[in-house]
Amino acid sequence: MDKLVIKGGVSLRGEVEVSGAKNAALPAMAACLLTDAPVSLERVPRLGDVRTIITLLSHLGVRADVGQDSVTLRAAGVDQFEAPYRLVKTMRASVLVLGPLVARFGRARVSLPGGCAIGPRPINLHLSGLEKMGAEISLDAGYVEAKASRLKGARIAFDVQTVTGTENLMMAASLADGVTVLENAACEPEVTDLAALLGRMGARIDGVGTSTITIEGVENLQGALHEVIPDRIETGTFMVGAAITGGDVTINGCLPRHLEAVSSKLQEAGVGVEEGDRSLRVWADGPAHGVHVRTHPYPGFATDMQAQMMALMATAEGTSVITETVFDNRFTHVNELLRMGANIKVVGNAAFVRGVPRLLGAPVMATDLRASASLVLAGLAASGVTTVSRVYHLDRGYEALERKLLGLGASIERVPE
Ligand code: EPU
Repeated sequence: MDKLVIKGGVSLRGEVEVSGAKNAALPAMAACLLTDAPVSLERVPRLGDVRTIITLLSHLGVRADVGQDSVTLRAAGVDQFEAPYRLVKTMRASVLVLGPLVARFGRARVSLPGGCAIGPRPINLHLSGLEKMGAEISLDAGYVEAKASRLKGARIAFDVQTVTGTENLMMAASLADGVTVLENAACEPEVTDLAALLGRMGARIDGVGTSTITIEGVENLQGALHEVIPDRIETGTFMVGAAITGGDVTINGCLPRHLEAVSSKLQEAGVGVEEGDRSLRVWADGPAHGVHVRTHPYPGFATDMQAQMMALMATAEGTSVITETVFDNRFTHVNELLRMGANIKVVGNAAFVRGVPRLLGAPVMATDLRASASLVLAGLAASGVTTVSRVYHLDRGYEALERKLLGLGASIERVPE
């Protein structure tokens, strides 16, 4: 296990290129199961989670040809239908193979993910949706088994918006018999990107980007070539990096329209944000002002940016209230930020943050990806040395984070623990 050693107090300056989106690449890769023709993806980030889904797809019988930042997947030889516990427990997004497997092969066995560091994360809505489409669902030894001769189109209203739930059912419905309508569907750009890929594969999908998605099932899907959208959470993390260090950073290769909630919060906090066509410049001359943040599904403020924003608020002038509405227990970074001298009180799903003039470097560790990112940001701004342990969380979702930060002038080093 590696750790990151950060000497804080350097303003980030310069330009950085953002990678392809983890949460768009994962469903796109699962979508290869819907056809026996090759699906080629470009701008695939080199990440732990991408390696995990390649392991899972290979285990199912998919052939994966991995290039520098591309991958070609051929699901012509699939002969296994089980996503084993050891893979699902390291990456919950493994459940994305469920919909495609049942739709194309009529069977799937997927380990139930259970809880994780950000709280209970059930998949009941994925399952009830498939049941509505005619699948028989049963539970055996911690595994969900789904069977169907051919899925049928159905009207499915989600109780709450679920990103991977929408993606799973959208993929399943693409090969179902008849029309499926998903109501209260997720509107995240990653859902839209998956629909764009499915469209290239021959799926008939309408209403993407709205909360009602209509899918007319087809008999077969074909291969396709698709470029994954830029990672909006990586982009947002660098935006906060510029703000928290009083720096000036231009983030290239991003899509500013996916970050409007983050941009407007940062501006409200007194941070400079300038939007280019596919770039964002973010700068700060002094400490940010405290602002209130409430997480919400897209286009609201992303839960995946909450921890990073809290690091910024921990050093802002004044008080802010950060309310987490998407997940039950996504404040594991708070205790670590406290060890760095932050002043934060959590009451229920709200964190009351009183900014301090300077955080103090400390050894810290976090139990999830975005929490770890917030500790790196806090370390960049803190006085002295911060050591962030369990870097494998960051490696799951950020491509070459320390190399990119080094390029912006940070003092950061990876050392074996
Ligand atoms: N939910 C249910 N039942 C379900 C599904 C979800 O009650 O069947 C609830 C969840 O418990 C949660 C809410 O619905 O309270 C939203 O969860 P959602 O299903 O949207 O989350 P997800 O699809 O499992 C994706 C991202 C997460 C991101 C969330 C929210 C991927 C692979 N993961 O998870 O990303 O936080 O959407 O935007 O797309 C990350 O990248 O660090 C990460 C955790």
